[in-house]
Amino acid sequence: TAPAAVVVGIDGPSGTGKSSTSRAVAAKLGLRYLDTGAQYRAITWWMLANGIDVDDAAAVAQAAGKPVIVSGTDPSAPTITVDGEDAAGPIRTQRVTAAVSAVSAVPEVRTRLTELQRAIAAEAPHGIVVEGRDIGTTVLPDADLKVFLTASPEARAARRNGELKGKEAADLAATQAALIKRDAADSGRKTSPLAKAADAVEVDTTDLTLEQVIECVVTLVEDKRSA
Ligand code: DC
Repeated sequence: TAPAAVVVGIDGPSGTGKSSTSRAVAAKLGLRYLDTGAQYRAITWWMLANGIDVDDAAAVAQAAGKPVIVSGTDPSAPTITVDGEDAAGPIRTQRVTAAVSAVSAVPEVRTRLTELQRAIAAEAPHGIVVEGRDIGTTVLPDADLKVFLTASPEARAARRNGELKGKEAADLAATQAALIKRDAADSGRKTSPLAKAADAVEVDTTDLTLEQVIECVVTLVEDKRSA
């Protein structure tokens, strides 16, 4: 008989290799993949494009239900559209990155996206890997496996800079400062802040290669499946 669907939540701050790890684990195990950060970025992009002041929480709350966000969950080719328009490129700009924490802190935005995320997870035939900041604590409290990835601030800044290379030049000190500021905002907000669930397995990736982190999480999932 086919194994039961397995639901995996992977949380942690930026620059810990969350996305690369989540995608690879999903691909290896035949699961779907959902990047919830991309959804927060997509809603932020829509707010900016529609002239909404992202620091006006009331205005953001009022508009939160308007954009139609669709996530494609194939780990080999994840997609995201807003009102039918491909948003994969624009959501990675520094303008969106700088605004996303403010938009993510608005409860109406979180309620909307949390509902969407739960619906996507419930529909995944063999299971799914969902990555974000509040998956283990809020979105999928009953996940079969919760992983919390960490890394030193220096390692995270170096990785984020590597991702930006060629797109938008950034120096390491500036990247590290921006990253620490965003993590502080994401950890300090009232509604479902970035946090490790009590039953999450913490993996410090500072001295691990991406391959090693992937292998570690795959083993954790297989252990759960055979338990
Ligand atoms: O993972 P990322 O850097 O693409 O996420 C972008 C932002 O979205 C991040 O700064 C915080 C927010 N976010 C969130 O609040 N909750 C999630 N589950 C995922 C992301």
